[in-house]
Amino acid sequence: MEQSDSHNRRYVLAQRPKGEPDGDTLRLETAEIPVPAKGQMLLRNVFLSLDPYMRGRMSDAPSYAPPVELNEVMVGGTVAQVVSSDVEGFAEGDWVVAFGGWQDYALSDGTGVINMGRNPENPSWALGVLGMPGLTAWAGLTQIGQPKAGETLVVAGASGPVGATVGQIGKILGCRVVGIAGGAEKCRHVIDVLGFDDCIDYKADGFAQTLGAALPNGIDIYFENVGGAVFDAVLPLLNTNARIPVCGLISQYNATSLPDGPDRMGLLMGTILKKRMTMRGFIVFDDFGHLYPEFAKQMSGWVQDGRIKYREEMIDGLEQAPAAFVGLLKGEAFGKRVIRLAK
Ligand SMILES: NC(=O)c1ccc[n+]([C@@H]2O[C@H](COP(=O)([O-])OP(=O)(O)OC[C@H]3O[C@@H](n4cnc5c(N)ncnc54)[C@H](OP(=O)(O)O)[C@@H]3O)[C@@H](O)[C@H]2O)c1
Repeated sequence: MEQSDSHNRRYVLAQRPKGEPDGDTLRLETAEIPVPAKGQMLLRNVFLSLDPYMRGRMSDAPSYAPPVELNEVMVGGTVAQVVSSDVEGFAEGDWVVAFGGWQDYALSDGTGVINMGRNPENPSWALGVLGMPGLTAWAGLTQIGQPKAGETLVVAGASGPVGATVGQIGKILGCRVVGIAGGAEKCRHVIDVLGFDDCIDYKADGFAQTLGAALPNGIDIYFENVGGAVFDAVLPLLNTNARIPVCGLISQYNATSLPDGPDRMGLLMGTILKKRMTMRGFIVFDDFGHLYPEFAKQMSGWVQDGRIKYREEMIDGLEQAPAAFVGLLKGEAFGKRVIRLAK
């Protein structure tokens, strides 16, 4: 079913998933197009971003942000066009970056909405390299990783929007960069297109040995996106004074129990102590939102002059979003996954 100007298709959270989301997690509804009140604008969503954090919002376990309530519209970043506006600074036809959710139309009072003007080039990139994932990569690496020329940077999830950007910034700043990704095709892209020095396939036999062999000088910065078995292989390779921006743990998001033993907590704490490592988690907008203008200026320059490459995986149709999201959590995405709601 196409986007229409007579009704609003929307996905609401029907059930909190246990483990992987399934066909009962989200429910597609058809509703009236919402009517803006005074001081509001009506947005027509054109692109919907799919992001790993959405799995956390489906759960009511304690987290840094409140969960989506049952029967409420699933949250999500969107690129939209203004249909009508009673908000200063926004006019009909403007393209905006907003948080409109998994639906065709959304209301906004302008809070947190960025106006991209009438004719932005590649508007959907504002959901990726020029938006939240790009800021995550840039801020996590520069503020916590603090890379210096000649150091070795390792990043997992290396073909995704965060990891790909982390590694390319690392190269610009003079690091030796090794990516970790799932499969030979993704690894080829990471080396040949993104320009990393090496990329190791964590799904191949002998992953830990291959990783060690690729890192004769150890690891000075490990940008953590995935956790689990990948971190187990990285831990013994970390150098004294290593920095570890803890950005995400995607391998754990669908987990329903703790991993199998033995308990490795003592090993982790001992390594942090003996190697004086800094491990710091961050939530991008809470911790680094104030750096957005500096990020936007630097990153748009790098993208324009071709120093940062960006791969997007565009999927047509709102009804594709639930399956595309489940696939994202399983590593099926190759590049930034975006749903196009309307042509
Ligand atoms: N802290 C923050 O504020 C913040 C903000 C944005 C994103 N994040 C986090 O940053 C990470 C990357 O985000 P993204 O948007 O760039 O994601 P993404 O790359 O679009 O998708 C996730 C990637 O993780 C890999 N993956 C999936 N399951 C895996 C598993 N079991 N083991 C190892 N790798 C697995 C997949 O690549 P392979 O095929 O290579 O496995 C996939 O490309 C996520 O953990 C996300 O939650 C955090």
